[in-house]
Amino acid sequence: MSTQSVDVIVDLQYGDCGKGKVAHHLCQTKNYTHVLRYNGGANAGHTIFHRGKKFITHQIPAGVFFGIKSVVGNGCVLDPIQFFSELKMLEEGGIDISDKVFVAENTHIITEAHRSEDKREGVRIGTTGRGNGPAYRDKYGRTGKRAIDVPELKPYLINLYQEWHGGGDTQILAEGAQGFGLDIDWGDYPYVTSSHCTTAGVLLNGLPSRAIGDVWGVAKMYETYVGSKKFQPEGEVFNKIADAGEEYGATTGRRRQTNWMNMQTLERAIRINGVTHIVINKVDVLRIVGQWVIYDQNTKAEFKNEDEMKHFVTERLKKLGITESNIFFSESRERI
Ligand code: IMP
Ligand code: MG
Repeated sequence: MSTQSVDVIVDLQYGDCGKGKVAHHLCQTKNYTHVLRYNGGANAGHTIFHRGKKFITHQIPAGVFFGIKSVVGNGCVLDPIQFFSELKMLEEGGIDISDKVFVAENTHIITEAHRSEDKREGVRIGTTGRGNGPAYRDKYGRTGKRAIDVPELKPYLINLYQEWHGGGDTQILAEGAQGFGLDIDWGDYPYVTSSHCTTAGVLLNGLPSRAIGDVWGVAKMYETYVGSKKFQPEGEVFNKIADAGEEYGATTGRRRQTNWMNMQTLERAIRINGVTHIVINKVDVLRIVGQWVIYDQNTKAEFKNEDEMKHFVTERLKKLGITESNIFFSESRERI
């Protein structure tokens, strides 16, 4: 009998909340056998500071930095060109990638045609132009191509049924991409990505529901969004937040729109994902801006100082069943 236990990292807002940082931290504190990317494609961008060097990964999960088996799961779509250039970048950066990086056989492929279609037609909702939407459409339209059909990927292929259920015990860190507000079902449709960005998306990669252990929700003390819809309200303060937070996309370099944290968005995301632990990042940014504001029930709640805002948020999180010792506030460059 093999047993599986899975901790999940899931973004509670619109992506870019610092999942990479949490993954990097957890990889060093628990003995994971695998790190699994469970959704999304080369649209994601994880910025990771490892041993003083900055790495940006799009497809390969953070486990690779610690010699943990890193798996691109079948909930993802994979761009082989991007995948191979990332392997090269990691190798050149001194990371040992041999026998560490795997792709599920049944992962669908992003082709050249998907990429050019997305560059042309993705402007409508402001996609990253990485071919994500067209690749998932072809998957569900049953005309897609899978990793098993790509000869160059052969050395990296893995059968996830055998891997999870083949006899050994596994302890998996499941690392999500994008975020709740971009989820195909629960996000602000049609301004969404084409994959499942919730804890439910983890299970699609061959894992049983009882395997789910800790669910680490990641948010920021304010919100950001990249894409075509108008998100940022009028007011100079929002530009200040973007500047102080260095809010530029890791994949496309686009400036992110900003807004105050929305308590009800956060509550929905926490409930639907089953969050047990939460990290709220970039508290220092509001400190630089000097304003402490949250939207709550469509009104603006303003706080006198940082402690008041943290206290308010903590009390709300406790009401949702999150233990106080599992609530972490963190700063831009700080480790957790
Ligand atoms: P797509 O995923 O490239 O199809 O883009 C759909 C929407 O999701 C657009 O608004 C993108 O800007 C957004 N998006 C996709 N990936 C990310 C990400 O990793 N961080 C933030 N936004 C993203
Ligand atoms: Mg990102």
